[in-house]
Amino acid sequence: MIIVLNFGGQTCHLIAKRVRSLGVYSEILPYDVSLDRIKNMKPRGIILSGGPSSVYDKGAPQIDAKLFSLGIPTLGICYGMQLMGKVFGEVVARRIKEYGNKRVTVVKQGSLLKGLKKNEQVWMSHGDQVEGLPTDFSVLGKTEDCPYAAVENIRAKLYGVQFHPEVAHTLSGESILRNFVFDICKCKKDFVIKDFAQKLIREIKGTVGSESVIMGASGGVDSTVAATLLHEAIGDNLHCVFVDTGLIRKGEAEEVKGYFSELDFKHFHMVDASALFLKRLRGVSDPEKKRKIIGHTFIDVFERKVKELERKFPAISFLGQGTIYPDRIESAQSSKTASKIKSHHNLTLPDKMKLKVIEPLRDLYKDDVRVLGKEIGVASELIGRHPFPGPGLAIRILGEITPRKIRLVQEADFIFISELKKQGYYDQVWQAFVALLPVKSVGVMGDARTYEYMVVLRAVTSRDAMTADWAKLPAAFLERVSNRIVNEVESVNRVVYDITQKPPATIEYE
Ligand code: XMP
Repeated sequence: MIIVLNFGGQTCHLIAKRVRSLGVYSEILPYDVSLDRIKNMKPRGIILSGGPSSVYDKGAPQIDAKLFSLGIPTLGICYGMQLMGKVFGEVVARRIKEYGNKRVTVVKQGSLLKGLKKNEQVWMSHGDQVEGLPTDFSVLGKTEDCPYAAVENIRAKLYGVQFHPEVAHTLSGESILRNFVFDICKCKKDFVIKDFAQKLIREIKGTVGSESVIMGASGGVDSTVAATLLHEAIGDNLHCVFVDTGLIRKGEAEEVKGYFSELDFKHFHMVDASALFLKRLRGVSDPEKKRKIIGHTFIDVFERKVKELERKFPAISFLGQGTIYPDRIESAQSSKTASKIKSHHNLTLPDKMKLKVIEPLRDLYKDDVRVLGKEIGVASELIGRHPFPGPGLAIRILGEITPRKIRLVQEADFIFISELKKQGYYDQVWQAFVALLPVKSVGVMGDARTYEYMVVLRAVTSRDAMTADWAKLPAAFLERVSNRIVNEVESVNRVVYDITQKPPATIEYE
């Protein structure tokens, strides 16, 4: 196995996931875990993740220098490499910030960069870097601004990279991790994701026993796979509730109902709470406030439904959730060190909530969830669905939400998605949607001046939503969608296409 020590980087779990997808078991531990615990686990290798701190910051996560003399091959990534530099007496300094795609020149392949081209695209996200080369280390790669972008110390089996090999934008990242895991750490390929389903089902059975679970099912990939796993484990002791928040896509309630009746769930309940959500959101435009209101309203609606169901089914004591790993990291609930970006509606549970939470997919990424889903027989049409956020259209309508704006976004989104499906692009993008900006602009229609809303088309490619690139959809396609929206959707006179990557932007707008 490979241990990943978590220094709070946004992509820490991705490292473990990538190692597991190479067929090698990997586990994440907090950075301050004891050396004894590490030794007892007998890892073949250790990876130090990135993190948002500066190594000299007060309270910044540190490392026990003895870790480097255990003889276990260790790879430091970004912050992990900087810690390594600090331990070996080098200065770590703030330099030019390097963000996004950079070119690395491979000076020497060594074992770590074996098979890489002379010049490679890598993903950087750092402000600090190691200023000198510690004794016994040699340089493997450099960028224009970073002379020590990849280093090795063969004798001590220590390796460092300033860029992120775990991120898809580092095009040869998988080869680098493969080199580390197999050539340097000598791991064997013996881990299969398929086994995960049975492991998760066993764990659910152990946790839930003969009690019952109530779960919000949105019809999205995560909650459906989680519900199906729970169903496999506890059968009819699962109650699924679909809350119509009024902030869902056009035709969605009917679609979800259809799916669940096909999946043969005995207890599927539909609650129309759209009026309540709208009432509570009236006049609110702050993104975090919106998220909190939606989260709390969701829980209120649930509690009401639970109370109603408890009278009939007294054993309900768990709340099932389809939370996946990126949801947790982005809410900074998973680590002491990650910085907060957005609160996740699923996780803003008030203390009064009496149900215990069960999140069978909490450590997985979307693509793992899809593989798992397939494994347990979830329909492929459903597995291929784009992700849809819990707060729904509320975070795609910037500013205040009104029924009219909801209708407008629903109609425009429906056109965009239908066209993507019709022209065969739907499955090529990770996620696509329409967002409504809180501004109006001047246009001209039928010789008359118009002053109407502007919508944004957002379509991104991604492997896991941690990073994303804007989809390079053909101009003719975008033109057709734009024309249709302006002609068919009332009150829209301008359509723009978002060409921002994540980071620095996020996929959603709020
Ligand atoms: P961002 O906007 O943070 O989104 O780049 C990353 C992925 O997460 C989805 N997302 C959410 N999903 N509840 C969810 O269930 C939420 O509150 C939420 N916020 C963002 C988003 O659609 C994208 O796939």
